[in-house]
Amino acid sequence: MKTVNEIEPLRQLRRQWRGAGELVALVPTMGNLHAGHLALVERGRELAHRVVVSIFVNPAQFDRADDLAAYPHTPEADRAKLAAAGVDCLFAPETATIYPDGGLATRVEVPGIGEILEGASRPGHFTGVATVVCKLFNLVEPELAIFGEKDFQQLLLIRRMVADLNMAVKVEALPTVRESDGLAMSSRNNRLGKKERALAPGLNLTLREIAAQINDYRGNLPALQELAGQQLADRGFQPDYVEIRRRQDLAPAAADDEQLVILAAAWLGDVRLIDNLMVG
Ligand code: PAF
Repeated sequence: MKTVNEIEPLRQLRRQWRGAGELVALVPTMGNLHAGHLALVERGRELAHRVVVSIFVNPAQFDRADDLAAYPHTPEADRAKLAAAGVDCLFAPETATIYPDGGLATRVEVPGIGEILEGASRPGHFTGVATVVCKLFNLVEPELAIFGEKDFQQLLLIRRMVADLNMAVKVEALPTVRESDGLAMSSRNNRLGKKERALAPGLNLTLREIAAQINDYRGNLPALQELAGQQLADRGFQPDYVEIRRRQDLAPAAADDEQLVILAAAWLGDVRLIDNLMVG
C-alpha cells in the first residue's frame, strides 16, 4: 500500500492507473477505522481495480472545537488495517493541503437536505462535509465512492451534490455495520465510558421498537416520535431528535408513504450518537 500525503504524487498515481484502464474506488474517512470502514473497503475491492482510502479529520465539518479536539487519531493502527485489507493507496493529507488558504472561501452548500436534522443541530456541518468530499473527488477523481448508511443524511446530501454538480462519480452505499448488541459502529463509541457504553444499544433498540409501531400510528407519526424521545430519555439518553421521514429526500413522512427511515440523534454524557433504521 502506498501512503501519499501530497497532491502531486496522488495525481501521478491516478494518471498511471487511468493509463492502464483501471477503475478507482474512493472510501473517504476521518480515520480511527473499524469494521464498518473495512466493509466499505471490501466493497471497493469488489467494484474497482484500485481502492484509495482517504483519512482526513476535516475541521470544517465540526461545529464544536471540543468535538474536533476529542476526535480519536490512530494513524498506525489505521495504516495496518488498510494494508491488511488490500488498499492500494492511503491518502492522508495535512489540513494545509486541503485548505491552502486556511479556510472555506469557496464552499459547497447543499440547501434543503443540508439544513434539516443534522444540519439544523450542527450549523455548518454539511457545508464542511460537502466541500471536503467535493475536494476529495477532485483530487482522487474516483469512478466510484463508497459511503455507509449510518450517516444516511450525509449519503443523500452527497448524492444530491453529485447530481447537481454533474460529477462523474457513482455513489455506492452500504448498510450500517453494528456491534453484536445493535450499537452502530462509530469512532465516537470509543469515547463512551463504561456506563454509557452499556446504555448505548438503547438507541438502536428504541428505533426498532418505534419501527414496529409505525402502522398503528400512521395518522399521527409525531406522537410516535414523541414516544420515541420519551423512551430514549427513560433509557438514559438526552434525545436531540427522533424523526420519521420519507427515505428518498427526508421530507416529513405522510400517512401513506411506504419507504421510510427513522433517524435519531441523542447524547449519552458528552458523546452524541446518531443512528437510523429503514422501514418499508
Ligand atoms: O463520514 C465521514 O467520515 C466524513 O463525514 C467524511 C465523508 C469522510 C467527510 O469528511
